[in-house]
Amino acid sequence: MRKNMKIAVVLLLTVIAAGWCGTSRSQTSQTVPQLLSNIRSMGKIRVGLSSGFKPFEYKNESGEIIGFDVDIAKELANALKVELVIKDYGKYEDLVSALGGEIDLVISGMTRTLDRAFLVNFTDPYFTTGLMVIVNEKNTKIDNWRQLNAPGKKIVSVEGTTGQDVADKKFDKAKIIRAASDAEAVQMLTRKDVDAFIYDKPFIESLCMTHPNWKVLQQQLSYEVYSIAVPKGDMEFLVWLNYFISDLKLSGKYDELYTKWFSGLYCPPVK
Ligand code: ARG
Repeated sequence: MRKNMKIAVVLLLTVIAAGWCGTSRSQTSQTVPQLLSNIRSMGKIRVGLSSGFKPFEYKNESGEIIGFDVDIAKELANALKVELVIKDYGKYEDLVSALGGEIDLVISGMTRTLDRAFLVNFTDPYFTTGLMVIVNEKNTKIDNWRQLNAPGKKIVSVEGTTGQDVADKKFDKAKIIRAASDAEAVQMLTRKDVDAFIYDKPFIESLCMTHPNWKVLQQQLSYEVYSIAVPKGDMEFLVWLNYFISDLKLSGKYDELYTKWFSGLYCPPVK
């Protein structure tokens, strides 16, 4: 009798333990992505970006994507000891949904916004900037962006970017045109289909260097930080990436890359 009791107790405990382990294991694999270990065991990291955004990610004459973000992605792959795979998206807004499985993270001059943070997680910032306005040769008499907020004026911004949000909020009297890409916005300003373009400061500054007849309006329209975006739910990965950003700065590598990509940016005043 006592022997039977013992067997029953052991059986019961085994069933409870198996059930408990079963639930915890399936919960782990279903709900917590393990990007850091997956990337290392696969031997590659898939970085999403949207090229055409100088000097962060753009194509050189031989069609290779280069820039500040690309160099950061290279450093990241080195630190993880894996191969770097870059996936270029034509539409900026596709980057957030690509984090659903197509890519491991986004390094693409992405502003950390509270709305995006409902959908993805952001690391600590790695760059501070904001939005500015550039006008074409038709509009060089304009000094202040408020003068552009008038009926008849056309302002271009890029679909799905912070430039579009701020244009919608600040330019309630002008007409806001949405370009599908960075290149399309530049084309519209070149063809004089629009009067002004609102976008991130470093890109605007790189434009004034190639278009000396255009004028950058001095006031900044917003203050923004760029962060690496990762899928939600993987705190382990986020913590490691924050250490990576901090180490990049401590080692002096960040300053080296900053000088390489930003030291030449300067807009001379337009007469
Ligand atoms: N910083 C802006 C944003 O997050 C625009 C970035 C555009 N970047 C690019 N790679 N095209 O909305």
